Amino acid sequence: MTQTWAPSSWRDRPAGQQPEWPDADGLDRALKQIESYPPLVFAGEARSLQASLAEVAVGNAFLLQAGDCAESFEEFSAVNIREKLRVILQMAVVLTYSMGVPVVKVGRMAGQFAKPRSSANERVGDEDIPSFRGHMINDAAPNPLARVPNPERLVQTYNQSASTMNLLRAFTKGGFADLNRVHAWTQEFVSSSPSGRRYERVAAEIARAMRFMRAAGIDTESNPNLSTVDVFTSHEALLLGYEEALTRQDSLTGGWYDCSAHMLWIGERTRQLDGAHVEFLRGVGNPIGCKIGPTTTVREVLELCQALNPAHQPGRLTLISRMGAGNVERVLPPLLRAVTDAGYPVVWACDPMHGNTYSAPNGRKTRHFDSVVAEIDGFVRAHRAEGTWPGGIHVELTGDAVTECLGGSDAVSEDQLDHRYETMCDPRLNGRQSLDLAFRVAELITNDQR
Ligand code: TRP
Ligand code: MN
Repeated sequence: MTQTWAPSSWRDRPAGQQPEWPDADGLDRALKQIESYPPLVFAGEARSLQASLAEVAVGNAFLLQAGDCAESFEEFSAVNIREKLRVILQMAVVLTYSMGVPVVKVGRMAGQFAKPRSSANERVGDEDIPSFRGHMINDAAPNPLARVPNPERLVQTYNQSASTMNLLRAFTKGGFADLNRVHAWTQEFVSSSPSGRRYERVAAEIARAMRFMRAAGIDTESNPNLSTVDVFTSHEALLLGYEEALTRQDSLTGGWYDCSAHMLWIGERTRQLDGAHVEFLRGVGNPIGCKIGPTTTVREVLELCQALNPAHQPGRLTLISRMGAGNVERVLPPLLRAVTDAGYPVVWACDPMHGNTYSAPNGRKTRHFDSVVAEIDGFVRAHRAEGTWPGGIHVELTGDAVTECLGGSDAVSEDQLDHRYETMCDPRLNGRQSLDLAFRVAELITNDQR
């Protein structure tokens, strides 16, 4: 792993989960085009996220990484982006207020368009057709033509990411995220639920604190921290050609950065040590994540730390465990111990979604809110036992009132799944369930501190 690195050195390694593009020239053209486009993020922003994550690594901050399982070309509107941001901000307010530590906000947004699949084909009727791999590659419609990988989608991914990013910057810096507006973020449907009312109480307390500070001479004019937030972007770096095309040399430091997002992660299916994804991401300066599932061994996790963070930089590597509620307390502690003993300053985040997915009797893929909470509970217990910091959560959610995950304060049941099941991929927490979860997480972690 000490060989020289280049943005293209991944091409000599086996790369899992890459589509077979029938139009090789078209792919080339699309990638060249993207290579000539401006970066979506600036290297200095990625460094600033890494500095914030370094605070998470030492236990002084908490990471909230959240957004769609897969973003969609069709559901692309200002309202859609604003509602997702609104839920993330509401969760962040609850977590910041209850835990009393800064919350680092990272969206699965502005680039989360490619999905790894367990099988290359899907059975539809009596036909085998290529699996849906995300709008970056093909269309979800269940027919062979829609599933043909189309390189023009790469350019559209860039364009949609750019406008999403633009709107995120406008919302987070232009007044929408102002702490004087915590009340205004409450959607009607949220304020009528138990966690909505709980949120209203937090919002009222924050409004009082804001009035007090204004009276004491600290206002949003003199302190922009009160009126703006940093919401960073992230996605799974799956399609390496696209990531390579957006990898640029930073003029300040000379280092390489993948400027498609602030943070990139490696999926559980593509984290092979000698594989292309680890090779690509080890060379970029962005903070990176790696998912680790229930079969991860101590040896694997140490090798990943060495490959991805040989310099032991705090905040460089986030290990995102997705063990399943029934496994986490058994599988995680030895990993925590080994990484700590080896002196790697990682961020430990919990993805409580992907290890708890199952098919309901009607065939809908779903997750129960209680299993999501149970996995976070086990995650916090494991950290308590090892004396490490449960640094954050990584969740799939939407601002809409969908019925994709079961349970939560209004007890979505299996026979309600069909009402509003709108995800293109995995089931997401709806607005209420997300807010419920923020309160539960804050409780679990603050109990931990007592
Ligand atoms: N800038 C601070 C932060 O990001 C405070 C803040 C302003 C905030 N608007 C927010 C926190 C919205 C959470 C949500 O923490
Ligand atoms: Mn998913």
